[in-house]
Amino acid sequence: MKKIGIIGAMEVEISLLKDLMTPNEKAKRINAAKYCGTEYFEGLIDEIPIVVAKSGVGKVNAALCALTMIYKFGVTHIINTGIAGAVGKGLDVLDFVVSTQAVYHDMDATGFGYKPTEIPQMQTSCFIADKTMIRAAQKAFDGIPELKGHKLMSGRIASGDQFISDKQVKNRIREICNPLCVEMEGASIAHTAFVNDIPFVIIRCMSDMADDGHESVYSFNETNAAKMSAALVQKMIKLF
Ligand code: ADE
Repeated sequence: MKKIGIIGAMEVEISLLKDLMTPNEKAKRINAAKYCGTEYFEGLIDEIPIVVAKSGVGKVNAALCALTMIYKFGVTHIINTGIAGAVGKGLDVLDFVVSTQAVYHDMDATGFGYKPTEIPQMQTSCFIADKTMIRAAQKAFDGIPELKGHKLMSGRIASGDQFISDKQVKNRIREICNPLCVEMEGASIAHTAFVNDIPFVIIRCMSDMADDGHESVYSFNETNAAKMSAALVQKMIKLF
């Protein structure tokens, strides 16, 4: 049976989904459990079994969370929801990116002859998202009238343990792997899902342009972008 793990790095990225959760038939309340300092909430959204967690920021926190969802909760699918910095041409704040694939922009073993982003001695460095889940996200987007006027693009997402707020750094990431957006968790969740054969997708709403103007732009859009991403996730879980 389908059981979806939904991961956001920060509370604002998952609060809407937590509020929508209802207990399953047997439990009188939403089941909560803690592993490695992270709380996991298990229940239903629109009758679909869901586990929601705030992973904390960064690749290791996110990978631990994804692995716990797989090992301790037996999730069959993983969705990473949240905000990101826009990199792709034509993307603006409050537009959406759905991952077709995810890479680490900060993986650098070029000194040993590897390409930028290439993970030494691994069969892949580019983790491919599930096509059915991608389609579900696109369909959900098309079905939300409030999102008319915003764009949804699907393509590569790049993750690293770095908040990108400098034009030169942004351009360097463009040269290295040309992603649509940058964030700090998606690829490590994708990596964890890949090695466990679990289908995944990353949904991100743009909070900033990942450049020098970041501070005020980010603060202004953080909550809206996080909630818009969660709203899209709520709609898409019924569609795959
Ligand atoms: N999440 C939201 N905006 C980001 C940025 N500019 N860099 C990394 N992660 C982000």
